[in-house]
Amino acid sequence: MDYLQLEGIKSLNGTIKISGAKNASLPLIAMTILAKNSIHIKNLPHVVDINTLLKLLTNLGATCDFRDDRVVVDTSTITETKATYDIVKTMRASILVLGPILTRFGHCEVSLPGGCAIGQRPVDLHLKALEQMGASIAIKNGYIEASAPNGLKGCPIIFDKITVTGTANIVMAAALAHGNTTITNAAREPEVVQLCEILNANGVKIDGIGTAVLTVHGTNGKCIDIQEFTVIPDRIEAGTYLCAGAITHSELTISHVEPKHLGSVLAKLEEMGSTFTQTEDTITIHPSQNIKPVKITTQEYPAFPTDMQAQFLALATQADGVSIIEERLFENRFMHVSELQRMGADITLNGSVATVSGKNSLSGTDVMATDLRASSALVLAALVAEGTTNIHRIYHLDRGYDRLKEKLEDVGAKIKRLKD
Ligand code: EPZ
Repeated sequence: MDYLQLEGIKSLNGTIKISGAKNASLPLIAMTILAKNSIHIKNLPHVVDINTLLKLLTNLGATCDFRDDRVVVDTSTITETKATYDIVKTMRASILVLGPILTRFGHCEVSLPGGCAIGQRPVDLHLKALEQMGASIAIKNGYIEASAPNGLKGCPIIFDKITVTGTANIVMAAALAHGNTTITNAAREPEVVQLCEILNANGVKIDGIGTAVLTVHGTNGKCIDIQEFTVIPDRIEAGTYLCAGAITHSELTISHVEPKHLGSVLAKLEEMGSTFTQTEDTITIHPSQNIKPVKITTQEYPAFPTDMQAQFLALATQADGVSIIEERLFENRFMHVSELQRMGADITLNGSVATVSGKNSLSGTDVMATDLRASSALVLAALVAEGTTNIHRIYHLDRGYDRLKEKLEDVGAKIKRLKD
């Protein structure tokens, strides 16, 4: 297996181009199931999860031509409606095909996505909403068997919890449903907003885009035509590289980014001492020499994102003072803590709260990635650790970071990708 070898460095310098958002690309690729034409998607990131979902669509009978950062998807040739365990087990976001397949074909089988490293990750809210829309749902031999032979019926849905892929799934299910569906307590993440915007621009009228109450006007079973579109920038990748600038006290610029998606992340970096210069699609970080401690609680957008928690925890090890980081969304999203402690971080965990007593001098060693964002936290720590750090199991990193090694190397990191 591959691993990353990093040398602690003094600073980074230059510009990093941000790729398209993984978590926008996944629902947008699933959305192609609602279309009857070939769809051209631009600015897709080169990450494993995208390849996995395109493979899933191909297994259903669609054709996907993925070249450079664009793909042409034609789902008019889909004949299968079963998403099998071998694919779903590698990426739980495969659940995103359930709503589109069910609303278009009237039946669908999707392997129950298991939990993952960061938590149980149930899909009960997805299933409950589809049942309210008239689907009959059964769980058999580890598969979700859903059927709605006369199509789905628009209705009012109230989510007990804010769920990002749950909102995306139901928006897509409602797109071809008979009548209108109002989703209350909807997710407002930019990735959900873009899905709604693309549907709204291509024949599915949606009111309340960007708010917690969405009304989807279904097409009564008619597939739609979707014109080509460009995926929004990845705000989590962008936030990760801004943390790289902050932790190494480097003036880094990130380009092809949407600053307005990073409000809560920039605010926390400012609290820790950094300042920023922004243009329409770039952000330059001007880091302080002394990093201030911070209090963070992860919540749904537009509050501080759980997907940035691990990166800020690594940054907090370099702050002068005690930082408190509370993880509110997932029950097991602190697995990076033990690896950071092995590098010399002074962190105590008490349930969902991590207390980081900085400033810690970190030393390079062998560490193990456990999940996508934990991996990036280890990269950040390795950038400032004394000596060499080897980060193993970087297949986690490959799921969501497009050419991370090359992007960091281009701004001066001493980083190699080696084989065990
Ligand atoms: C999406 O996951 C993202 N993944 C995650 O990013 C992100 O961490 C998460 O949203 C929160 O922002 C994609 O978009 C592909 P949720 P999702 O449903 O949709 C509970 C990354 O690093 N819940 O919003 O699966 C759930 O257990 C990944 O890129 C239910 O109880 O998350 C959690 O506590 C990791 N029942 C909370 O809601 C359900 O049916 C939020 O989960 C669904 C969710």
